[in-house]
Amino acid sequence: MVNSSLWAQEISDKIKSKMIVVAARNKHKIPYTTENGVYDDWTDKNICWWTNGFWGGIMWQMYHATENNLYREIAIEVEEKLDRNLMNHGGMDHDSGFKWLPTSGAHYRKDGDKAAYNRVLLAADNLAGRLNTAGGFLRAWNDPGSGDKAGWAIIDCMMNLPLLYWASELTKDPRYNQIARIHANMAKKYFVRDDGSVKHIVEFDPLSGEYIRSHGGQGYKRGSVWTRGQAWAIYGFALSHQYTHDEEALKYAVKTADYFIENIPEKHGIPVDFMQPEDCVWEDSTAAVIAACGMLEIKKYMPEDSGKKYEEAALKLLHFVAEERCNWTEETDNIVERCTAAYHDKEHEFAIVYGDYFFIEAIWKLTEQELFIW
Ligand code: GLY
Repeated sequence: MVNSSLWAQEISDKIKSKMIVVAARNKHKIPYTTENGVYDDWTDKNICWWTNGFWGGIMWQMYHATENNLYREIAIEVEEKLDRNLMNHGGMDHDSGFKWLPTSGAHYRKDGDKAAYNRVLLAADNLAGRLNTAGGFLRAWNDPGSGDKAGWAIIDCMMNLPLLYWASELTKDPRYNQIARIHANMAKKYFVRDDGSVKHIVEFDPLSGEYIRSHGGQGYKRGSVWTRGQAWAIYGFALSHQYTHDEEALKYAVKTADYFIENIPEKHGIPVDFMQPEDCVWEDSTAAVIAACGMLEIKKYMPEDSGKKYEEAALKLLHFVAEERCNWTEETDNIVERCTAAYHDKEHEFAIVYGDYFFIEAIWKLTEQELFIW
């Protein structure tokens, strides 16, 4: 195996050479995916879309590593545009961590900006208000008028809990932390199966809080294992442990990571669902890079000998993505390829902005350039 720190440094250099060109030609966009290699723009398409924080997050990570002010300017432009979302109640859902931690959160951590601090706490207040006290879960999505999804919780929300943990640290008010812990404890009980695999959606009765059923959601089917959901669990439980020092949270991070590691295919990328039919070859590179970030986080909290396994698995995932699933040409806006939003969507294996975000974050962790934003 090649020297991993040298390898990570080489990948970091490649990211820096490409991103300065990509950022300069996409200055005023909020991209989600590419069309013929060119980033699209969600500024007017849907400012409330859940991925709209990741372009700003990439810009902050790039700024932190290079101090090139272009990145900071673009990040702040995204953050200011997101105020239209913050003022749109129907567009506020459980994804506030994904939107405001990589933008306003990063801005506040980097510059101590007061407006950014205000945005972080407004988003945290809204997220805290999504607690269903009967079921002990944060409601996931909205469903204007019908109430159909009032009892739905999803595993992705584990990655939004850091907004609440951090809000408690910022304000010295324990309520945010208490609410996040309630949700994390619910997730241990209802989302993680005995074998360490996770469900995507769990539906509760929103009035009584009683468990009703699970749904396959963005995965193949009920009872299957959507790989990005598995990755959100790994990283989300690891971050819960980081903020709370709850040993059980670390155990759940490890348990979900162990399941992921046992199922990494030898010759292919990570499938969209670990249980998809054998003749289905659709991959989701985002699951690989998010899981790698989570595993590198787990490693920090383990004794050196047992932590090694998680670092090695993360490196295996990142090597594959970097060598086989990255587009390093400067003419194409995205880096990571073969990302999939959901198994049953019409389109599969395209570029998705958070694939690039978590790939860069993982490489920055390996090269000690990370701006911690969670
Ligand atoms: N949070 C939605 C997803 O991972 O697709």
